Amino acid sequence: MATSTSAPLLSRQALNAESSAIRDLLRHAGRPGVLSLAGGLPAAARFPVAEIADAAAAVLGRGEGLQYGLTEGDAQLREWIAARHTDQGSPTTPADIVVTTGSQQALDLLTRVLVDPGDTVVVGDPCYVGARQALASAQPEFVGVRVDHHGLVVDELGEQLSGGLRPKLVYVVANFDNPTGAVLSAERRHRLVELAEQHGFLIVEDDPYGALRYQGEAAPEMGPGSDRVVRLRTVSKTLAPGLRVGWMVGPPWLIEAVTIAKQAVDLHTSTVSQAVVRELVTRPGWLDTHIETLRPWYGNQRDALVAALRETLPEAEFAEPQGGMFLWLRIPGSNAQEILPVALERGVAFVPGAAFAVHRDLADHVRLSFATVDSADLPEAVRRLAHVVR
Ligand SMILES: Cc1ncc(COP(=O)(O)O)c(C=O)c1O
Repeated sequence: MATSTSAPLLSRQALNAESSAIRDLLRHAGRPGVLSLAGGLPAAARFPVAEIADAAAAVLGRGEGLQYGLTEGDAQLREWIAARHTDQGSPTTPADIVVTTGSQQALDLLTRVLVDPGDTVVVGDPCYVGARQALASAQPEFVGVRVDHHGLVVDELGEQLSGGLRPKLVYVVANFDNPTGAVLSAERRHRLVELAEQHGFLIVEDDPYGALRYQGEAAPEMGPGSDRVVRLRTVSKTLAPGLRVGWMVGPPWLIEAVTIAKQAVDLHTSTVSQAVVRELVTRPGWLDTHIETLRPWYGNQRDALVAALRETLPEAEFAEPQGGMFLWLRIPGSNAQEILPVALERGVAFVPGAAFAVHRDLADHVRLSFATVDSADLPEAVRRLAHVVR
C-alpha cells in the first residue's frame, strides 16, 4: 500500500500531524438522508452569488487580478481593511496588515514565525480544532484554559501566569466562539490585554463570526491599538469561504516576519479573489447591507434550533448563542462519541465535544451548527438526536 511504502519518506512533522476529527466525520455526515448539525460550513444559500459573479466580471473585464501581486496583499484592499478597523476603534494602517489565504493560513503563518518546539501556547478548553492543528505543527506545549458562558476564564489564566506560566501566545475566539458560541466579556477582554502587556505574550484574536450577531450589543474591540493583539479576520462567513480571503493585523515586526514566511508558502493570496473582494467591499454600503440580510436569516436558524431543543430535548443544557453558527450542548449522562455512529445511522450528525477538548473531559458535550440544515428540518434533526440519546 502507498502508506507503507512511502511512510519512511514522510517528515517528522507529517508523521506527527493529526487529521481533524471534524473533517473525518464530515465524510459520513454528507451521506444522503443525514441532517448534519456537524461541520462549520456557512449556508451556501446565503452566498451573494450574483454580486460575486458581477464583481468577478467587472475585475476580469478590466484585466485585473491575473498578474502576480504583493505578498502583503492588494494595496487598495488593505487600505479598505485599515479604514474599517480604524472605524471600529482600532487605529490601523495598511502597513499593519497582511492579506492571508483565509484565517486558517494566518494561524499557520503565526505558528511558523512565533512557535518553537516546547514553547507554551495557551488555548481555550474547548478549542477550535483548526487552530490546534496549525499550532501543533510546531510541537508546542498546549495549556488549555477553561471556557465558560463568558468565554475564556481569564482569571484562571492570571493565576497560572502568577504561578510562572510563560506563554508565547494566547489564542482566543472572543466573538461567538467555535465551539462554545460564547462571547468574551468586556471585563475579561480588558484583563486579558493587561496580562499580555504585563507578561509579554501575544493575544491571537481570531474573529470569523463577529459580524453575525443576532441580538444584543457588540462587545468592545479587544485592546484597541494594543500591539499585543494580533487580529485575524476573514470573509469566509460573510461572503464565501471559497474566496479564501482573510487578513491579519499586527505589530510591524510580526507583519514583516509573516510576510517573509508567506512568500515561501504561496507568494500571495489569489489576486483574483482579492480583486473580487476589493470590488465588492469598496462599493459604498454594500458589505454592511449584505451583512444586515444575513443576521435575521441566521438568527431565525438559531431560534428554530433553540426551540426544537427546548421542546424535544429539555434535559440538555445550553446557553443560547447571541451570534455565530454554533450551539454548545451538554447532555448529562451521555457519551457523545459513543452515540455518534448510531446517530449517523439514524440520520443526524453532530460533533462530539471531545473533538475540541484540550485537557477537560467533554464527553457529554456536543457542538451543533444551525447554519446549514433548513430551519424546517431542524425539529426533525433534534427528534433524531433525542431518540439516539434516549
Ligand atoms: C474559529 C475559526 N477560525 C478560523 C477558521 C477558518 O476560516 P477561514 O475560512 O478564514 O480559513 C474557522 C472556520 O471554521 C473558524 O471557525
